[in-house]
Amino acid sequence: MRKTLTFAFLLLSMTSFAQDAKRQIAIIPEPVSVKQGSGSFRLPAQIRVEAPANPELKQVLAVLKQHFSVVAGSTYSVSTVLPGADIRLILNSTENSAIGKEGYQLSVTRKNILIKANQPAGLFYGVQSLLQLFPKEIESKERVAGVKWEAPVVEITDNPRFGWRGLMFDVARHFFTKAEVKQFIDDMVRYKYNLLHLHLTDDEGWRLEIKGLPKLTEVGAWNVKKTGYFGTFSKPTPDEPKDYGGFYTQDDIKELVQYAKERFVDILPEIDVPGHSLAAVVSYPELSCTPEANTYQVRSGEEIMDWSKGNPPTALVDNTLCPANEKVYEFLDKVMTQVAQLFPFEYIHVGGDECPKNYWEKSPAIKELMQREGLHHMEEVQSYFEKRLEKIVSSKGKKFLGWDEILEGGLASGAAVMSWQGMKGGIQAAKMKHEVVMSPTTYTYIDYMQGDPIIEPRIYASLRLNKTYEFEPVPDEVDPKYIKGGQANLWTEQVYNMRHQQYMTWPRAFAVAETLWSPKEKKNWNHFFGKVEQHFERFDAADKKYAPSVYDPSFTASFTTDKQLKIELGKEVETLDIYYSFDNSFPDSHYPKYTSALIAPKDAVMLKVVTYKGKKQTGRIIAMPIAELKSRAEKAKK
Ligand code: ACM
Repeated sequence: MRKTLTFAFLLLSMTSFAQDAKRQIAIIPEPVSVKQGSGSFRLPAQIRVEAPANPELKQVLAVLKQHFSVVAGSTYSVSTVLPGADIRLILNSTENSAIGKEGYQLSVTRKNILIKANQPAGLFYGVQSLLQLFPKEIESKERVAGVKWEAPVVEITDNPRFGWRGLMFDVARHFFTKAEVKQFIDDMVRYKYNLLHLHLTDDEGWRLEIKGLPKLTEVGAWNVKKTGYFGTFSKPTPDEPKDYGGFYTQDDIKELVQYAKERFVDILPEIDVPGHSLAAVVSYPELSCTPEANTYQVRSGEEIMDWSKGNPPTALVDNTLCPANEKVYEFLDKVMTQVAQLFPFEYIHVGGDECPKNYWEKSPAIKELMQREGLHHMEEVQSYFEKRLEKIVSSKGKKFLGWDEILEGGLASGAAVMSWQGMKGGIQAAKMKHEVVMSPTTYTYIDYMQGDPIIEPRIYASLRLNKTYEFEPVPDEVDPKYIKGGQANLWTEQVYNMRHQQYMTWPRAFAVAETLWSPKEKKNWNHFFGKVEQHFERFDAADKKYAPSVYDPSFTASFTTDKQLKIELGKEVETLDIYYSFDNSFPDSHYPKYTSALIAPKDAVMLKVVTYKGKKQTGRIIAMPIAELKSRAEKAKK
């Protein structure tokens, strides 16, 4: 009998060991140090939490309660002193300098969980890592029954590489409600982002109530809802209702700032001037250098700039504020006074990007300004504007931050630069000893397509997950102390709703989160991708959307010397198999497997491809017309 019991026990512990061994820890972003032990912590039916009385821990406790009680079903109690507590949160009485303001130590034993940090933010991040140790169902919004709520025994020590870990959300091109912005914040903090950059104004809308300037939101916040391909929409006719859009009242902003603060997120407001200002110009045409501005309307996605000559674009309507007009500086003073009061964050972003100069070139007032101030070209006119704006912003006690175009024509002293046209603007600014945030199109523009345009919603360019993962914010040639961190930018010309917002943001924001938080030497694409797959499952459990584009192949087309069409398929993930057909039928794992470049049969009209991992379909079936491949091969020849 005794023998049988011992044997049964041995068998049981072997089974549980096998399960432990199976569970790979998959925390994104990768912590500084993870030491996995053996065994696991099992969530008890009654979960008892010990936490110091500190109002800043409100959300830390709310997160624990939501996931462990509402979802996992344990009863939940919290107290400041609780001997034998299952979860203990400790704010260090003596600072542990190794983990800084946002770091934490998380210890999971078979018996209990301990999270220690210097500051409440560290406990918040410790809890985010803790949740990722539990089964994916913990991400659900409702109670899930029948799950073994276990976390592996582990010791984690962690702190971020950068203090600026941002996501930009463009709420100007399409308005997203206060509740939607809160949802965006909820999602970003799960991956330890701490900065939300709100792009509040653009040609398509002014989204912020400014007292004393009511037309900005009565007129400037509204346009005509169009459906199709942004940038090519028909010009609104007088009978089309301008009822699409919206704005945040000052009370809304206070609520959002508070909501973000409770989750250890700062909000960076962006007022994009002097370009991208059509909504302001339509509201107050006297801010323009161009007399016919009083006939303009807020953009609804029709073409308003010609990009054929690059940046700066040529404007088809004058979407700029007039640097030669004193009323513009009075306007900006009023705006910046209120922005500074509403947003406690130390920076105000003033845009400065993609400012057309062709209307300025025609303006007598600009000509006069240039003579008076000794300005030689239009970049110096913009620089004059930026320097005056820098004075306004700093007079409100805020730091001035702009897109890298503010370097052209001379940078205001004290200005910080957000580098978007690649890394070069950031490098130049850092060399001039200015603060820099890196958000280059080449790695962090998450509005770009994640795969081939044949299947993705079309936008200007592509940026695949593996390329995003290569982002390194500190170039060799600069002093790292000037690089405050980085961010991913979600422009929303083509993003009309929150589901598509999620599709565009994730998984690329996993990659940027890991770059900004984790030690550089711990980054590893294969390990990261393994984690991404687990987080896809967590997103499924949470009913959140993500792009599966990483599973889809890329296409390269060329012509052989004997003029046949040659097609090479590429993949981001080595372990996938690609199957294909040229006969219009849907390929699956019984079809020919791609092993080397394909030659299209002479009369084929369509190549269809799909990826599998073993027997499981991973990618989407992509139907690629042969005519499209031929046209790409022709272009590649040029
Ligand atoms: C930008 O993407 N125009 C900053």
